[in-house]
Amino acid sequence: MSQQENTDKSDWPPVFSADAIEHMERPRNVGSLARPDGVAIITGSCGDTMEFWLRINNGSISDIKFWTDGCETTVAAGSITTLLAKDKPVGEAFKINQYDILDALGGLPGGSEHCAALAAKTLKAALSDYLEFKNDPWQ
Ligand code: FES
Repeated sequence: MSQQENTDKSDWPPVFSADAIEHMERPRNVGSLARPDGVAIITGSCGDTMEFWLRINNGSISDIKFWTDGCETTVAAGSITTLLAKDKPVGEAFKINQYDILDALGGLPGGSEHCAALAAKTLKAALSDYLEFKNDPWQ
């Protein structure tokens, strides 16, 4: 599925869900990892930056951290993405997209969905970084 933003506002909830608020107030897996197996730092078109740091063991994500300088919605998107990706095989984690993140947060109000897109894009970039290093460790 493409990472294009959903511009159909008809299914956007008017307020944040309890799950989204909980992740804003108590984000999981915030920080970074020393000597990560994959890392990505991406700044979205809104100017917010998101980072994902991965530890891969036996082909699965054994540890994951995120950081963002973005708004609370971006914090919630990063937090839930770490929970969706943790313990997943790399191939499965690649399939996590904007809509999986939105579903896990109970949707996001209009104008905030791009935060989920930034989280999905950054996770995929960190996974790609892992695969590039794994396939060519001397680069
Ligand atoms: Fe920038 Fe959410 S407001 S990613």
